[in-house]
Amino acid sequence: MIHNIQDEILRLKKEQDVCILAHSYQAREITEIADFVGDSYQLSVKATTVPHKTVIMCGVRFMAETVKVLSPEKKVYLANPIAGCPMAEQMERDMIGAWKKANPDYAIVAYINTTTDLKTVCDVCVTSSSAVKIVKNMESDKILFIPDCNLGAFVAEQVPEKEIKLLQGGCPIHAAVPAREAEAARAAHPDALLLVHPECVPAVVAQADYVGSTSGIMNFAKESDAKEFIIGTEISIAEHLQYECPDKKFYPMSKQLICPNMKATTLVDVLNVLKGEAGEEITMSEETRLAAKHCIDEMIRLGG
Ligand code: 13P
Ligand code: SF4
Repeated sequence: MIHNIQDEILRLKKEQDVCILAHSYQAREITEIADFVGDSYQLSVKATTVPHKTVIMCGVRFMAETVKVLSPEKKVYLANPIAGCPMAEQMERDMIGAWKKANPDYAIVAYINTTTDLKTVCDVCVTSSSAVKIVKNMESDKILFIPDCNLGAFVAEQVPEKEIKLLQGGCPIHAAVPAREAEAARAAHPDALLLVHPECVPAVVAQADYVGSTSGIMNFAKESDAKEFIIGTEISIAEHLQYECPDKKFYPMSKQLICPNMKATTLVDVLNVLKGEAGEEITMSEETRLAAKHCIDEMIRLGG
């Protein structure tokens, strides 16, 4: 059944010259039919180079919006319109715009997990894989980092020479894992290395053997000589790694690490987008697009 749907998707996408991009939190049956699978930074950069006129994003809304900002000539569809990232909605453009006016000597750094609207008042975007490098490379020494205070705290620790202010925001999935759960996972698997996403709280990050983005975690586990790993990010990363490295063992740090938004997209959704029966085409005004593009362009310039 799954293979029949996958075959139909592959046939239609070839016929219609469609590119399917998938975030690495997507289920395996979706990553199998995607043209490219990656973390949010890799997906943004990839979107600028694919030749197809149409892109289907299997991920969350801000990822589809980023593709549209960078490639306005393409038709961009979010495979399942309910797939949003709650963190992206946590801060309002007007609130951050007012903060910026009151603090003109600060540069506003926005995690890419933000709405296009919020990006219009920010100076540069970062992703979890590029945040440290970009903040180091920025001309400004005074920074407001939004919305994820956990990623921001991690960056502040890595870049102590800059003054980094944080606001209270973050990922409800990663930030919900308490330090005691990481300790319990370590106690249950004493030979395993703990690999953690920087959206986790500092008390979890402090216990990690490696801290990095989804692709950083995957690359570290594949290249490491170690045989066992506790995976401190969305559960699909442990699942993908187990398929790709059958001779190693992967344990989720917590059974709660499931992002319902990332899991909202199904193979049938993708098929129905190709049939013109589902999905949402991403649209935005040219004024908003250009204002938001500035900080995504800066991300690619400073992170490249
Ligand atoms: P990455 O930048 O590692 O892809 O993470 C995106 C995300 O939503 C993590 O929760
Ligand atoms: Fe957003 Fe967290 Fe889900 Fe990532 S895991 S998409 S940050 S809610």
